[in-house]
Amino acid sequence: MDFKLSEEHLMIRDAARDFARTELLPEVIERDTHQRFPVEQVKKMAELGFLGMMVDPKYGGGGMDTVSYVLAMEELSKIDASASVIVSVNNSLVCWGLETYGTEAQKEKYLTKLATGESIGAFCLSEPEAGSDATSQRTTAIDKGDHYLLNGTKNWITNGGSADYHLVIAQTDREKGHRGINAFIVEKAWDGFEVGPKEDKLGIRGSDTHTLNFNDVKVPKENRIGEDGFGFKFAMKTLSGGRIGIAAQALGIAAGAYEMARDYSKIRKAFGTEICNHQAIAFKLADMHTEIEAARHLVMKAAWDKDQGNNYDMSSAMAKLYASKVAMDVTVEAVQVHGGNGFVKEYHVERLMRDAKITQIYEGTSEIQKLVISRGLLRD
Ligand code: CAA
Ligand code: FAD
Repeated sequence: MDFKLSEEHLMIRDAARDFARTELLPEVIERDTHQRFPVEQVKKMAELGFLGMMVDPKYGGGGMDTVSYVLAMEELSKIDASASVIVSVNNSLVCWGLETYGTEAQKEKYLTKLATGESIGAFCLSEPEAGSDATSQRTTAIDKGDHYLLNGTKNWITNGGSADYHLVIAQTDREKGHRGINAFIVEKAWDGFEVGPKEDKLGIRGSDTHTLNFNDVKVPKENRIGEDGFGFKFAMKTLSGGRIGIAAQALGIAAGAYEMARDYSKIRKAFGTEICNHQAIAFKLADMHTEIEAARHLVMKAAWDKDQGNNYDMSSAMAKLYASKVAMDVTVEAVQVHGGNGFVKEYHVERLMRDAKITQIYEGTSEIQKLVISRGLLRD
């Protein structure tokens, strides 16, 4: 067993850390307040290779492993979880899904642009009547010979207003249940594609979350991903990896809040001494640090499982379940350590607390992670 990171891993972690501090931090509060998408920052992340980290270099990616990716996700999320979810969706839901299951032509046409960040992607599974219950897709894609006709509504779509290409999951044959579901690559520019309202959110306010409507969108046959009926499994397999990215995001949110609380406790004085000298505060720091370390081990184990070619359905679900709980617990305590200052925007921890909550909801709620884990346990 070797817990040591390689030189390359350390370089990637440090590059992400530097970028987060120099490029994401300066206007992060304004972006949160005004729900402003980080356009310039995403361009810079693309230049640095953060949008297609694990993609084969022959398609314009960084050819890195999942451990590198989670290290970068943690560092970006310490400062700006709105920016990191853009990275997470593009890397682990869109690029990974296309690279693993796409045809060579699909990779040439779409992956090359997505991996370099020239284009941004979105992953469209959720619907008003199909969130956790993802097999209940109402969006339909009717086979019309050389194309499918796509109709329906997707909601909560991250990058919904900014993405050029969307991976859309839709029902092609209701009678076949989940085996009648397919996944398609849909271009924003196509007729009938409509970006609906932007959500006004509690957290990750810099990311743009939209409802999308599809009205008789013609999707060429060659834009279906995988064999007919593979769409639900495509979504499930892709989400198993996506959950590692969100677990790393939760870890980063927790670690960022902890570091701020630790530093603040060393300068803020009460009753004639720095507050870290009060055992109640010091023990909070001890608990926060211990929980973060435990979360980090689960996140790293899931990333390692994926890199080793092991099954990672359960390890990714466990990492997300636990890291998202730690993100909530630690950010609440970080606000407490800051006292009144914790309650105002200037000190960042209130934003991290608001951002933490989404990690227990998207890419499968905590209850759904428990369902995945318990089914895995009982199956084995
Ligand atoms: N890999 C491969 N196949 C899988 C699989 C996996 N990880 N999980 C399930 N399947 C297969 C099953 O084997 C089954 O196929 P067979 O019948 O051929 O055996 C089929 O899929 C249906 O599986 P279930 O019977 O388990 O399906 P279910 O209806 O009970 O639902 C679920 C399972 C785990 C609850 C699933 O619906 C789910 O994950 N729900 C949560 C949805 C979700 O995570 N949404 C996230 C949207 S994206 C997002 O949120 C992005 C973002 O915020 C940034
Ligand atoms: P519901 O499924 O209605 O769940 C409501 C409650 O019931 C939850 O507590 C849930 O855990 C519980 N519940 C449901 N079923 C069960 C069960 N069987 N056992 C126990 N408890 C259960 N989706 C995308 O496809 N792409 C995206 O890019 C995307 N980005 C998002 C960004 C944001 C900011 C948000 C808020 C959501 C995003 N989502 C996205 C959607 C997200 O994945 C769903 O919100 C999530 O899967 C939960 O679905 P739901 O909201 O319909 O809740």
